[in-house]
Parts: sequence; C-alpha cells; structure tokens
Amino acid sequence: MTATEALSAAYHPAEHHAFESGGRQFLYLIPSGAIFGLEGLSQEIYNLLQSCPLSGEELTMELLRRGYSEAQIEATLDDMVDFDVLSSGTPKKTFPTVPEKSFPIQRIVLNTTNQCNLACGYCYEYSEDKIASTKDKPKFMSDSIAKAAIDTLVKESAGRNSLHVTFFGGETLLNYPLMRDSVDYATKVAKAAGKTVDFSLTTNATLLTEEIADFLAEHRIGVTVSIDGDKELHDRMRVFHNGKGSYDVIAPKIKMLLARHRTNAIGARVTLSEGVRQVRRIYDHLTQELGFDGVGFAPVTASPDRLYQIGGHSMDKVLLEFEELAWEYRDYAIKGGRHCFTNVADTLKELHLGISKAYTCGAGLGLLGVGTTGEFAACHRFVDSPVAQMGNVTTGIDREARHEFLEKHHIGARTDCHSCWVRGLCAGGCYHESYIKHGLSDASNLTSCDRIRGWIDLCLRIYGEIGVKNPRFLERFDDN
Ligand SMILES: C[S@@+](CC[C@H](N)C(=O)[O-])C[C@H]1O[C@@H](n2cnc3c(N)ncnc32)[C@H](O)[C@@H]1O
Ligand code: SF4
Ligand code: SF4
Repeated sequence: MTATEALSAAYHPAEHHAFESGGRQFLYLIPSGAIFGLEGLSQEIYNLLQSCPLSGEELTMELLRRGYSEAQIEATLDDMVDFDVLSSGTPKKTFPTVPEKSFPIQRIVLNTTNQCNLACGYCYEYSEDKIASTKDKPKFMSDSIAKAAIDTLVKESAGRNSLHVTFFGGETLLNYPLMRDSVDYATKVAKAAGKTVDFSLTTNATLLTEEIADFLAEHRIGVTVSIDGDKELHDRMRVFHNGKGSYDVIAPKIKMLLARHRTNAIGARVTLSEGVRQVRRIYDHLTQELGFDGVGFAPVTASPDRLYQIGGHSMDKVLLEFEELAWEYRDYAIKGGRHCFTNVADTLKELHLGISKAYTCGAGLGLLGVGTTGEFAACHRFVDSPVAQMGNVTTGIDREARHEFLEKHHIGARTDCHSCWVRGLCAGGCYHESYIKHGLSDASNLTSCDRIRGWIDLCLRIYGEIGVKNPRFLERFDDN
C-alpha cells in the first residue's frame, strides 16, 4: 500500500475479542491467535475506531489535535496494521487450508489391548455408548503389529524429528511386555532414521509394580494415571468387574510410582461425572494426599440420557470450582510458584503460543490410533469402530480416507463456528463426543459454547494479568 493509499484507506479493528486484565486492555486477535496489549496511543486509536471506521487521514488529524506527533502516529498505526490489529477494506474471515494428503504424522497411540481388569461405569469402551466392536479381533496387540505401526510412524513423519508413541488400552499394562519391547524397537528405528522418540502411558494403575515403575523412569516415560478423587468418590465409578472399588489397590501403587519415577511428568486424569464432580475436594486430595504435581479434569462423554452425564446445572457448578482453582493458579503464578491445575496451564500454553487451530485436536492429522489388528483410526477412541478409519499397518495409511476426514472436520467446513471468537482454540469440539451425542463426528458441539467461551475468556484474563505482573512466568510456555 502506498503512503497516499494508506492515508485514505478506512481502518477498522480486525476481528478480535477485547478483555481487561491487570488494569490494561488487551485484544485477542481471532484469526492469528495473537494477544495485543493496548496502551497510550494504540488504546486511543482503538477507542476512536470503535464507533466507526476512519481513514488514516482522519485518524492522523484527530490524533495530531490530541498532541501526538506525526512520527508517533505513523509508527503506531504501522505496528497495529502489521500485527493485524487493524485492517482496511471489507472485513473478511480467513481460514487455513486443508493439509496435503501427504501431511506427516508425528504420534501414534497404540491400543495395546482391548481388555480391561476394571469396569468403570462410564467407560466409552465398554458402556452402552461403546462404538468399538472387538468381536473376532485379537485381545492383545502382537509385537509384529506394534513394530509395523512404529515403522509407519517413522516412514510417514517426513520433516518431523521428534516422534511420540503413546501406550493406551483397555488397561494398557495388561500388555506390559509389548510396551517394553516397543520402547526398545521405536528408540532403535527412530535413531536409525535420525529422529528421536518419546513415550507416554495412560493407565488405571492397578497393575503397577516396582519393576514397571523403574522401567518407566529409566525410559523417561510420561505417565497419566486415571483416578477420580478420594476413595469415596473414585470408587463410585472406577470399579473391578465384581463391583469393588479400585482406590485401595491403586493408592499405594501411585505413591510408589511417584517416589520411584522422577524423570518425567506423572499426571492425574480425573473423569468428572454426575456423582463425582467435587473439583476442589478431588484436587486437594490428589495433590496433598497422594502427591501428584499435575491434575487435569475432563467431563465424561456420554449420551444425554445417561445418568452419569453431568447436567447443565451441575456443569455450571463444576465451572465455578474450575474458576476458583484457576484464580488460585494466577495467584501462584504471580508469586512465581507452581500450581498443579493443568487445565489452566494447557490453555495458557495455547494462548502463549498463539495457537489458532483448524482442527480441534491432532486426530487424523498428526496423530493416528492403532488397534490390536493393526487398523489405523483417527484416534484411540475410534479404534475398532466403523467411523474415522484410515488404513492399516499392512497397506499403509489410507490417504484418501484420511483426506476426506480432514476435509469434513476442518474449521472451514464448520459454518456454525465461523462467527465464534474462540473458534481458533475450540474448532468445534471432540469428534468422538459429537459422534456419541449426535451420531456425527463432524457436528460441532454447540451445547457447551457459552461455557467454552467463558473458560477461554477467564484464561485470557489470567494470562494478561500474569503477563503484566510476572511476565517471566510465561517463559515456561515457550515452545521447546
Ligand atoms: C479408556 S481409558 C484407557 C486407559 C486406562 N485403562 C485408564 O483407565 O487410564 C483412558 C481414559 O479415558 C477416560 N474415559 C473413559 N470413558 C470416558 C468417557 N465416557 N468420557 C470421558 N473420559 C472417559 C478414563 O477415565 C481414562 O482416564
Ligand atoms: S480402566 Fe480404563 S479402559 Fe478400563 S474400564 Fe476404566 S476407563 Fe475403561
Ligand atoms: S463449538 Fe461452539 S465454542 Fe466451539 S468453536 Fe464452535 S461455536 Fe465456538
């Protein structure tokens, strides 16, 4: 744009969400995911453009009248245009494009078994909401299937040098030998290809032993332990097949794991359901009594008529408790302390990195789930189901099926979300949840939008305040 064109163009604020924090006004810029702090002159420009678009000439005249110099005005306007805070011309929405068919994968989730020694009341693998069919399929993944899946990961990860393998189930540790051998194999083949690979495990903790803990520590394997709170709460849903709660079995094993394994993060994953939604009580128990230093909560995914589904009124209460913990996180962060509520940390990281998503998550994109037969699905939740299938370890990734999945689930195809200011962070919601609730994996989860927007707004305010009062704290979220 020439200087004359710039002066005559009518400026307006680009698509944004404004919020205040730490005594300052910020703009969350929707297409880019960036956060812009307003002050002095930029604040005045923004205020002036709130009521109607103004040309550069009109803006300059008004700001000169207010005592700013021409050089100041020009530099600030340039900054605001460069950062996409202001635009000229007709406002238009832009979306990223659908990735190429050869888009590399970076993570596989191996369902080491489809069997489980627990019978948790809500489990999407075995409850009435189950979509997987394991009839006539091997109960345990074989070594050769796991190796072939790892080979596919290495082969299909062009340009990606750090790979990830996640071990999942059923109860993952029912097939511990496979995990041990796969860690060894993946490390070897990744190294031969000039890449690194790291590992994570999700487990119900019932089968942990000292030997397993030492293996996890030796290989720096990140662990997520599924636990829903203290004995009374946990045992409501997480029970053995005879109905007996699993808390007494897992509590000592978790303490043993936390004591022996210090080379990577060990987090607690809480599944909240209608009878188990006492967030503060659960958080305090898991951090203070058991010693976890990361606790993440996820509401149960279920058809609306399931009794354990959290109702709207209850969900509002859950969010109030989330909010209380989130402000507590803010207080710790301002003092440079460490708080264990990972839901906030995860969202702050996305805000810090300016993430603007075309997809809710990596399913089918950089991540594939693998079943015991060696079939690939968009993620572990779709393994062995009729939905979101995309090839197998023998014939390779089905690029057409994957591309079709990526086209269907792209934010550009989700017209319901196009005017939503959190679309770059939510992007429509979990595909599995949509399938369970609406029978369509690509239907946006429109029932929770206000809560999602409220949560992101809260995290933005927390991010802004930490940024003003202790900006160094945010360096931990730098990508490395
Ligand atoms: C399916 S399990 C598999 C790994 C292992 N058996 C475990 O429990 O950690 C993985 C996680 O999914 C969670 N989960 C199971 N059913 C769920 C549902 N309907 N909604 C949300 N999370 C669910 C479990 O609580 C657990 O944290
Ligand atoms: S332990 Fe994991 S896989 Fe087993 S029933 Fe519970 S949630 Fe499902
Ligand atoms: S599902 Fe709702 S909150 Fe999420 S992006 Fe779409 S409209 Fe926004």
